[in-house]
Amino acid sequence: MSFVKRDRDNGTLRMADVGREVTLNGWAHKVRDLGGLCFVDLRDRTGLIQLVFNPSVFPNLEDVRAETCLSVTGFVRARAPEAANPKLPTGEVEVEVRSYSVLGPSKPLPFPVSDEEQMRSVNEELRIKYRYLDLRRPSMYRKLALRAAALRKIRDFLAGEGFVEVETPIITKSTPEGARDYLVPYRLEPGHFYALPQSPQQYKQLLMVGGIERYYQIAKCFRDESQRADRQPEFTQLDLEMSFVEQEDILRLMETLTLKVVNELIEEFGLDLAPVQPFARLTYDESVDLYGCDKPDLRFGLPLFDVTDAVGESGFGVFRATVEAGGRVRGIRYPGGANLSRKEIGQLEEFCKEFGAKGMASLAVVTADEAGESPYVSPRGLAVRGSIAKFFGPDELEAILARSAAEPGDLLCFVADAYMVGNNVLARLRNEVGRRCGLRDPRALKFAWVLDFPLFEWSPESRSWTPSHHPFTAPKTADMVFFESDPGRVRADCYDVVCNGMEWASGSIRIHRPDVQARIFTMLGIDEATQKDRFGHMLEAFQYGAPPHGGIAPGIDRLVMLLLGEDNIREVIAFPKVAQGYDPMMDAPSVIDPQQWAELGLRLSR
Ligand code: AMO
Ligand code: AMP
Repeated sequence: MSFVKRDRDNGTLRMADVGREVTLNGWAHKVRDLGGLCFVDLRDRTGLIQLVFNPSVFPNLEDVRAETCLSVTGFVRARAPEAANPKLPTGEVEVEVRSYSVLGPSKPLPFPVSDEEQMRSVNEELRIKYRYLDLRRPSMYRKLALRAAALRKIRDFLAGEGFVEVETPIITKSTPEGARDYLVPYRLEPGHFYALPQSPQQYKQLLMVGGIERYYQIAKCFRDESQRADRQPEFTQLDLEMSFVEQEDILRLMETLTLKVVNELIEEFGLDLAPVQPFARLTYDESVDLYGCDKPDLRFGLPLFDVTDAVGESGFGVFRATVEAGGRVRGIRYPGGANLSRKEIGQLEEFCKEFGAKGMASLAVVTADEAGESPYVSPRGLAVRGSIAKFFGPDELEAILARSAAEPGDLLCFVADAYMVGNNVLARLRNEVGRRCGLRDPRALKFAWVLDFPLFEWSPESRSWTPSHHPFTAPKTADMVFFESDPGRVRADCYDVVCNGMEWASGSIRIHRPDVQARIFTMLGIDEATQKDRFGHMLEAFQYGAPPHGGIAPGIDRLVMLLLGEDNIREVIAFPKVAQGYDPMMDAPSVIDPQQWAELGLRLSR
C-alpha cells in the first residue's frame, strides 16, 4: 500500500513557504464547497492548513468529505489580506492543490468532529463509543499532549533525584486501599484468583526492603468502587517511595517536584493559571475545624464558625437539644445571602438535607437602620432578622455575630448536629456558597498539605476501627500511649496534598517493624491466621533488616484535570470507562465463551 508521504507538517506552513511545492497528509477537517472553489481545512496533529481545489482541475470532489484521510500535493500561496485568518498560525497562506489521493474514505460521522461548539452538546457516552473520532479534535489532542508532557517532566525530575523507575506486577494479590478488588481467575487452580492492585503499595515497600531506596512508577491502579467525577475504576498514580527518610523529606521532594513540573507546564502550554506558590500547611484537625473536611478549597476563605458554647442554653430547642446531646452548633457566612427569599432559603435547607442535615437554621444580618425595631443592635451596629432571632438574648446574638465575623448582608447558616455530620454538610455548603458568590479565582491552583491524620477511623457499619489511610501507615510515636485506651486519638505520620477542593496525593511514613505491623492488623480486627495468609510476606520481609521508609502517590489524572480546569476525569483519559465501569467502545465487560467458563472452573450460580 504505497501513498505519497508528507514532506511538511500542516501547522508549520508560513509566508516564507510561498511558492514551494509541498505534500501534506491529514484529515479533511472542514469542507466548504463555495460553488466555484472548494476549500478544505486539512488537519494533522500539528494544526490546520487551508487547501483550495480549483473546479477546472477538480470538477468532482465527491470523495472528499469531512474526516476523509488524504494525501495532497500543491503550491503554497499567500492569501489575500482580507481572506487571511488571524486565528490560525497558518492563516496567511493556503495550498493550491495540484493532485490528491484518498488514503481512507470516511463514512458520515456520528458527531461533528470539527465543531467544538456543537461537540459540547454531544452525548458523552456516544463520544466515548467513538473515542477514536473524538480524539481527532485538536482540544483532545492537547489534553493528551499535556498529560504526556507532565509525565516526561516528572520522570526527568525524579531521574535527577536518583530515583529508579520499577514496574510492579498487575496480576497479583490484593493490596487493600479501601475499595473492592478486581479479580482474575487462575486457570490452573479453580477457586484461586489474582487481584489487580489497588495500588503498588506492598510492592513498593518490598522494593525498599530490597534496597532500591528511591523508587517511582507511573502506575496503573484498579479499584472497584462507586464512580464520581474525579474517580475512574482504572487510573494512574505517580507512585513513589524512599528509604531512610522522615516525613519532612517526602514533603520537600513532593513540593519541589510539583512546583517545578506545574509551573513549567503552565508556561509551556500557555495555561491561563497563576504560577503555583509553595504549599500552605494545615493539620487534619485544623482543616476539619476551619473547613469541615480534609480537602478544603483554599481559593477562598469563609471558614466555618462554632457557637456551641454560646447557644447551649438558648431558647431555641433544636440548638439546646443538640448541645445537650454532645453535638455542636456550627455555621457558615453566606455573603449577600440576606437577600434570599424564603423559598430560596428553603432550597438551601434542602441542599443541606441531601448531605445528611436534619435542617438548616438561618439569620440574616442587617444594619441597625434596616432592622426597624430590632430587639438587639450590636456594638458594631448590626442586627439580625429571621424566624429564630427571637430565641436569642443579646449576649447570645453578640457571640454569634462576633464568631461568624458577620457583615451586613450576610445570611448566617447554622447546622446543629454531631461534629462530623455537621462538618460534612457545612463543607459542602461552603463550596456551594463559594460557587454562588464567585469567590473562586479561576486562575488559582491552591495546593496545601494536610498533615497529622488520625491513624484509625471508627466504622459504625462494621463496628470496628478501619485505617484512615491504609494499614501500613506508621502511628506517631508520641501517640502510641493511647493505642489501647483511645485508638481514635492516635495520629499517623500521614499526609495529603489537596488542591482546589480535591485530594490530589496521599502518603505516609510506613511501619517497618513486624511487631508494630502485627499490632495494627490486630487492632483492625485481622486475626493472626488471616494476617499470615494475606500479609505474611510483609511481616516476614520486615524481619530481614527493613529500612525506615515512606512515600506518597499523587493522581496523574487529577493533576491533568486541575491544570485544564476540567471537573470530569474522563476528559483527561484517552479511553475512559463510563458509569458502572463500562467501556462502550470495546463493549467491555462482555460475556465469555462457555468453554472459557469451563476452563476456569467457574460456574454461574443464579
Ligand atoms: P490513595 O488511595 O489515597 O493512596 O490514592 C492516592 C491518589 O490516587 C488518586 N486516586 C484516584 N484517581 C482517580 N480515580 C480513583 N478511583 C482514584 N483513587 C485514588 C488520588 C489520590 O490522592 N498507596 C497509597 C499511596 C501511598 O501511601 O503512598 C494510595 O494509593 O489522586
Ligand atoms: P423545627 O423546630 O423542626 O420546625 O425547626 C425550626 C428551624 O430549625 C427550621 O428552620 C429547621 O430547618 C431548623 N433546624 C431543624 N433541625 C436543625 C438542625 N439540626 N440544625 C440546624 N437547624 C435545624
